[in-house]
Amino acid sequence: MSKPLEGIKIIDFTHVQAGPACTQLLAWFGADVIKVERPGAGDVTRSQLRHVKDADALYFTMLNSNKRSLTLDTKTAQGKEVLTKLIKESDVMVENFGPGALDRMGFTWEHIQELNPGMILASVKGFSEGHAYEDLKVYENVAQCAGGAASTTGFWDGPPTVSAAALGDSNTGMHLAIGILTALHQKTKNGKGQKVAVSMQDSVLNLCRVKLRDQQRLDALGYLEEYPQYPHGEFSDVVPRGGNAGGGGQPGWVLKCKGWETDPNAYIYFTIQGHAWAPICKALGKPEWIEDTAYNTAEARQDKIFDIFAFIESWLADKTKFEAIDILRKFDIPCAPVLSMKEIANDPSLRKSGTVVEVDHPKLGKYLTVGSPIKFSDVTVEITASPLLGQHTNEVLADLGYSQEEIVALHDAKAV
Ligand code: COA
Repeated sequence: MSKPLEGIKIIDFTHVQAGPACTQLLAWFGADVIKVERPGAGDVTRSQLRHVKDADALYFTMLNSNKRSLTLDTKTAQGKEVLTKLIKESDVMVENFGPGALDRMGFTWEHIQELNPGMILASVKGFSEGHAYEDLKVYENVAQCAGGAASTTGFWDGPPTVSAAALGDSNTGMHLAIGILTALHQKTKNGKGQKVAVSMQDSVLNLCRVKLRDQQRLDALGYLEEYPQYPHGEFSDVVPRGGNAGGGGQPGWVLKCKGWETDPNAYIYFTIQGHAWAPICKALGKPEWIEDTAYNTAEARQDKIFDIFAFIESWLADKTKFEAIDILRKFDIPCAPVLSMKEIANDPSLRKSGTVVEVDHPKLGKYLTVGSPIKFSDVTVEITASPLLGQHTNEVLADLGYSQEEIVALHDAKAV
């Protein structure tokens, strides 16, 4: 069965995480993604944090599945010629070089358009064009700090904290993928290519929009009722760090379960959803709280919310996180166990859904990677191993019309 993006040819001029996450997604859905890498070295993540000698690191394999690899030195004349041919034949070019690198290589947007007016050029940069910091090179945590995530994450008595989730990298790649698909769709209407640009700062902020909401509420009221600082603590004029508080008006917290003293993940997240108050009381064996005016509205509970959480922890003391969830789910209470990466790696549900998949790699052996988090009724996403460096160089060159002799000459000139 043909894949939805079959026939779309993508020059994958990306490295590290933000760009590769985007092109990997498009490869999963059937695009022919040709990863262009510098001969000899390739994407820096091939060798970063290796755990098997001489084999590509998981950092690379988990971001580059389903792609083909072409080695090309685009600073040589012959390399530029190959890239020129590739641009003429492709639909999309994705890059996340440092600011100005593509221009310095000789492939300005104007030149790319001359070569292929239908080309969609998709770029990731740390900051958007024209931003005061547009010249900066940026990695994940830099973006989390600039996009509002770090200042609002963590506990009020600790420093700004970055998230383990790749809000700056993979998240930006997902935004870029949406931009590319939108541009491809527009091209079906007007026949034209265009430039699609996403900045890491903007993508982080897009996920932190509720904190921008809170800043405006704080400016207006001087307090934020859903934060742990309310009503007993103090607010300054900036959105504070709220620990594990729920961000959407439903109070919630991470609560200890049986075994927390030795297991760092023996916790659940418990949400006190307003209309679920009666079932919560029943689940906790506190039916008297249901009608008690000191407890039966969100407002009444607010000043004793941490006493309520403490009571729930006493209820949880003899239950593992899984036992607790099995009880609470019967009462329709929004909650979940805090799952460790080990538990996620072995979770039968995630394996069954294809969200965690095992892939065979010629040098690394079997490894786990993420599958598509997007499920379709009519598309099957198969995850294949990432390519070895230059694995498809000759094949891609032959597709471009190079003869065997010309291919040998390109190798001899160290252009590929
Ligand atoms: N052939 C020849 N040269 C190549 C090449 C190839 N196939 N691929 C890359 N290069 C060159 C580039 O042209 C550039 O050369 P120049 O600086 O002399 O013009 C050089 O390699 C370095 O590229 P750059 O992207 O600046 O790499 P870096 O290692 O210095 O910086 C980042 C890495 C990630 C900080 C930077 O790329 C960046 O800020 N990217 C934008 C934001 C981003 O995506 N961040 C990472 C998120 S995971």
